[in-house]
Amino acid sequence: MDLKQAKKVTDDANQLIDAYMAAHSDAEPDYLALVNRAAHVHTINPRMLSGHFQGRILKMLVRMIQPQRVLEIGTFVGYSALCMAEGLTTGGHVDTIEIDDELEEFIREQLAKSPFEERITLHIGDALEVIPQLDTTFDLVFIDADKRLYREYFELVLPRLKSGGFILADNTLWDGKVLIDKPESNDYQTIAIKAFNDFIATDNRIEKVILPLRDGLTLIMKK
Ligand SMILES: C[S@@+](CC[C@H](N)C(=O)[O-])C[C@H]1O[C@@H](n2cnc3c(N)ncnc32)[C@H](O)[C@@H]1O
Repeated sequence: MDLKQAKKVTDDANQLIDAYMAAHSDAEPDYLALVNRAAHVHTINPRMLSGHFQGRILKMLVRMIQPQRVLEIGTFVGYSALCMAEGLTTGGHVDTIEIDDELEEFIREQLAKSPFEERITLHIGDALEVIPQLDTTFDLVFIDADKRLYREYFELVLPRLKSGGFILADNTLWDGKVLIDKPESNDYQTIAIKAFNDFIATDNRIEKVILPLRDGLTLIMKK
């Protein structure tokens, strides 16, 4: 078997495992399945949304951490914001930031159709500009926007995170490309994710662990 065949076997096995895990976890709520479907019909890159399995993980992490204030960087259609809102206890709130103003109407429609609209505030703008204007601290931050800016997002949110608070950084294995020793010089996303992971690994302000979920999810706790 050559490498290409071996990769196909591994990919097939992973798909079966993914399907098994999804089938043996909580089902995707109906309103989220509609958001998922609408994203596939109306957006160019629906694969960006978290989806059933990761959505249930986000909700469960929120259940475990019990944050009052959650910040999300990268709303897309609102899927992950809704999953986190679903897991909140009374009084909890999600602020979510999306740079693409063409998505605003679509996102607001999805939130309005859900049971959790009241728990979510949508900010349209560049997170690098919006975050400094947010006059609050957070218990949990989900970083899921431009991969080239993960370090900037991290440095911006760390002072606004309570001690003992968590950051979740998505896509930190970047489809396995983090293993490439010397990425192409124009592969800015792989270069930035590798630099972010290297930096996080040695930063003693935080505790961290990478979970091999989907595309890699790094759990970070501020000491
Ligand atoms: C992977 S998608 C987010 C998916 C969403 N969190 C989910 O799981 O359903 C990334 C989103 O981040 C947005 N984005 C990219 N750079 C941004 C920035 N600097 N500030 C805010 N949003 C940004 C993109 O427009 C895109 O909609």
